[in-house]
Amino acid sequence: MRKNENGRNLHIKTALNQICIHFKKQNDKNGKYTAFQPRKTLRKTTKTASPHFSAAVCAATPSHRKKQRLTASSCLTLLYGSEFCIIARVPRRTAFMLIQRIPTGIPKFDELIEGGFPVNSMILLVGYPGAGKTTFSAQFLYNGATKHRARGVYVCFAETKETFLRNMLRFGWDFERLEQEGRVAILDLSVTREAGLQKNLDTIMETMASLNASRLVIDSFSAIGMGLKESIDIRIMIHLLYKFLKKANCVSILIIDQPWGSSSIGEGISEFLADGIIHLETYFDEHEMFRRRLRILKMRGTNHAKMPCAYDINSRGFVLFTPEPSVPKVERKRTAKRKEGAGASSRRTARRGTVDLTEVKGIGPKRAEKIKTLGIRFAEDLAESNPEDIVRFLGVSEKVASTWVRNAKAAVSKKKFF
Ligand SMILES: Nc1ncnc2c1ncn2[C@@H]1O[C@H](COP(=O)(O)OP(=O)(O)O)[C@@H](O)[C@H]1O
Ligand SMILES: [Mg+2]
Repeated sequence: MRKNENGRNLHIKTALNQICIHFKKQNDKNGKYTAFQPRKTLRKTTKTASPHFSAAVCAATPSHRKKQRLTASSCLTLLYGSEFCIIARVPRRTAFMLIQRIPTGIPKFDELIEGGFPVNSMILLVGYPGAGKTTFSAQFLYNGATKHRARGVYVCFAETKETFLRNMLRFGWDFERLEQEGRVAILDLSVTREAGLQKNLDTIMETMASLNASRLVIDSFSAIGMGLKESIDIRIMIHLLYKFLKKANCVSILIIDQPWGSSSIGEGISEFLADGIIHLETYFDEHEMFRRRLRILKMRGTNHAKMPCAYDINSRGFVLFTPEPSVPKVERKRTAKRKEGAGASSRRTARRGTVDLTEVKGIGPKRAEKIKTLGIRFAEDLAESNPEDIVRFLGVSEKVASTWVRNAKAAVSKKKFF
């Protein structure tokens, strides 16, 4: 995979909207790419493609470009799975590179990170005991093997393979069967933890290579370092592991066990090396209810969700709810206004929050309920919202989100006028 000249990364939807012409790649008898044929519009293609249209890359090879009279910065190649490839002519100034994404298949999670983990990335999954780290990672591997034909390796350092297999069966995930079918390998290194990191890494590498795996989970990274007392040893281990993972050419999830009450994530190195950090938190709310919350703290090359997202673990595994806004924008403004002085603010407060969402053109009671889950309760709130957030969390198109915001502004000003 080659990078394009300016190395800009854009969201796939934005990218696709900017593309005007595209061509389908054709193979000759020897399986080599020889020609490009114009196809229907790319928009149409993406509609029929899987939602996990994970795409990437650069310009075509120099000879292809010559044939199509394209300059490197004015063409784009998209890969749909490994099956076909599209060359698109784009204006020079909008030439860009898309990042290939690896979907987790965890309901609603991929929407938070623009479709999936960036290819060949190392993700830290941090959380308190019982937060759901093992469940999340196992679901990532299971979905990969069953829905995306991606083979994976699960390395147990903390618990034994037996307990892992048994616990996962509760969710209906038969890893034993997947292992027999050669789609997944579960490595039990809990007993050989003391064998030495290099030896264990060699075992993982051999398994990955023999399986041709593209997904890896290490459960847990903290357990590998447990025997190491000196910080220099831990540093060496992290660098060794990092080099290993980059060579393995896979998406890896490294689980980090966070002790109760601790706010630190790693040991000060892995956080910087990691391409992504996901934090799983468990807590008790004001009514002493047990709750779970996920945050994405880092995801390189990705415009990821910034709000915490409530989740639960049920009989189907890891389930995310619609993101909960930490402090809604409107609430913050109201509090600030109250402080300004009672007389002046009371008039303004009375005017706020008076236009119901259903009074906005294009929003019925059902849609209003959906929008309210984002903390947007009135037309005034919607008028001040960012359409991008609505797109990301409700899965509607950019056009629809912008229309809602525009109509909300119109509804609010109409109300003021009368
Ligand atoms: N079959 C199940 N149904 C519902 N919840 C479950 C089930 N199995 C585990 N859990 C929940 O998941 C938690 C453990 O998840 P796990 O992924 O093992 O956490 P971690 O790896 O972060 O320690 C348990 O404490 C329990 O709350
Ligand atoms: Mg665990």
